[in-house]
Amino acid sequence: MGTNPDEGVKTVVRRLTPADLERVIQLDAKVTGRRRDGYFEAKLKENMSRAGIQVSLAAETGPVFTGFLLAKVWYGEFGSTEPVAVLDTIGAHPDYRGRGVGTALFDQLRTNLRALGIQRIRTEVSWDAQALLSFFHHERFRPAPRICLEADVDDPVLVEREERRAMEAEEAGLS
Ligand SMILES: CC(C)(COP(=O)(O)OP(=O)(O)OC[C@H]1O[C@@H](n2cnc3c(N)ncnc32)[C@H](O)[C@@H]1OP(=O)(O)O)[C@@H](O)C(=O)NCCC(=O)NCCS
Repeated sequence: MGTNPDEGVKTVVRRLTPADLERVIQLDAKVTGRRRDGYFEAKLKENMSRAGIQVSLAAETGPVFTGFLLAKVWYGEFGSTEPVAVLDTIGAHPDYRGRGVGTALFDQLRTNLRALGIQRIRTEVSWDAQALLSFFHHERFRPAPRICLEADVDDPVLVEREERRAMEAEEAGLS
């Protein structure tokens, strides 16, 4: 810090627009090391079209696109009775880390959600992404009282059951 020419330049947060697609892809590539064109094309389309409520944000520090977050509002999905904002992705420019871009994005998100009467923000983080978990902890995220479940399509127990049923059906057809 201190040697950066735009040190002290204020970060401005605004709504993300479809025109930001390439900037988002480039910034994410700096963060993750690979371009995810398909993912962001689909996500931006989905997040921009959802019931007219757009809560995704962009951060600019002077002329530099320094951060973004992609979020959407869910109404009553997964058995929930209250609307919830779901955060898909967040990224801050590696050269601008630790300069308040992430918190500026979250402060604006909370302001916008309050105005919409939305009380909760939900996200999912890989258990291995310790840095990201620390940041979310700092932003007062806590484990939700929900259980995230997943199943392997090729689980041997289920594959065996499918095969058994297929065989039984075949035998029944033969007799
Ligand atoms: C997480 C991330 C958005 C934080 O952005 P940032 O602009 O550097 O964060 P800020 O400068 O606003 O920091 C906010 C606070 O969080 C803390 N923080 C940020 N990253 C942290 C970390 N890895 N561990 C602990 N604390 C952290 C900062 O110390 C700061 O605290 P302070 O306000 O008390 O000083 C950014 O590091 C990032 O883009 N990480 C990669 C995210 C990623 O993997 N995205 C792809 C999958 S979703």
